[in-house]
Amino acid sequence: MPHPALGGQFTFPGTPLTVHRMGYGAMQLSGPGIYGPPKDPETAVAVLREAVAAGVDHIDTSDYYGPHITNQIIRRALHPYPAGLVIVTKLGARRTPDKSWVPWNAPKDLEAGVHDNLRNLGLEAIDIVNYRVMGTGHGPGEGSVEPQITALAELQRRGLIRHIGVSNATATQVAEAQSITDIVCVQNNYNVAHRDDDTLIDALAGQGIAYVPFFPLGGFTPLQSSTLNAVATRLGATPMQLALAWLLHRSPNILLIPGTSSLAHLRENLAAAQLTLDPPTLAELDGIATAAHA
Ligand SMILES: NC(=O)c1ccc[n+]([C@@H]2O[C@H](COP(=O)([O-])OP(=O)(O)OC[C@H]3O[C@@H](n4cnc5c(N)ncnc54)[C@H](OP(=O)(O)O)[C@@H]3O)[C@@H](O)[C@H]2O)c1
Repeated sequence: MPHPALGGQFTFPGTPLTVHRMGYGAMQLSGPGIYGPPKDPETAVAVLREAVAAGVDHIDTSDYYGPHITNQIIRRALHPYPAGLVIVTKLGARRTPDKSWVPWNAPKDLEAGVHDNLRNLGLEAIDIVNYRVMGTGHGPGEGSVEPQITALAELQRRGLIRHIGVSNATATQVAEAQSITDIVCVQNNYNVAHRDDDTLIDALAGQGIAYVPFFPLGGFTPLQSSTLNAVATRLGATPMQLALAWLLHRSPNILLIPGTSSLAHLRENLAAAQLTLDPPTLAELDGIATAAHA
């Protein structure tokens, strides 16, 4: 059932998958450094259950969070999954015992990764798999994605995955992926202060493709801005709520997956979808990126 309070709905192009624009990112549910079990597994379960009870129907994850642990927590909290819940995972890396993230993106690795996700999530097919390009780490880097997207398209043909997206990808890589198969979403680093993808977002909006910003709150270095603080005080909201509300206003194809391990932060983040920002306020927040790059 649609929850108007969660920012309206979006249908991934060419799919039956409709989600609220306010979703949830599960990366924070494993231990420190996104490795090992969380300090408080019961709260992790509670966060997931409360998100879904509030109407969240889009959860972003990866089997390399933990590794495996985040997906196992999702399964424990939510399986059997409610109808309409869309779980999106990503492939392309694996973790090593020293907690590094290393590329794991040969076609046979991607197939093994799909099976890891299916097993740990308790699914027979995954709704959407993003191929996560390693690039420069949190930033993109050019290079062909043809072998990986071709491999995912084959796994789609075999029924193991339903739809395909890309992550940490350049516009050139998105276009190359689209020349191989239908791409339903792009998941890149973007927020009110980090706006390298402005042109890409508008191009994807024109095609009805979802843009899902990772690090919507700044990720490992949370957003800090005197403008966010001042506007938040004026509107009786929090700076993080404004950062999320700004993203929802930025473009109708933007879907949010803020990450949190805290029930209080979850509630705060979901409530951000109810904020309406007027044009002068949006212009003021637009200035944050200009100031960050000055
Ligand atoms: N494709 C990729 O390469 C990639 C990379 C990174 C992330 N992701 C996905 O994107 C999702 C979002 O990114 P993210 O979790 O890294 O970063 P984020 O959503 O920008 O920020 C998460 C950080 O902000 C804190 N936080 C959350 N809500 C808050 C609030 N209301 N007030 C104050 N602090 C708050 C969290 O701590 P608490 O736990 O204490 O709330 C956490 O430290 C991830 O969960 C993951 O699913 C994808």
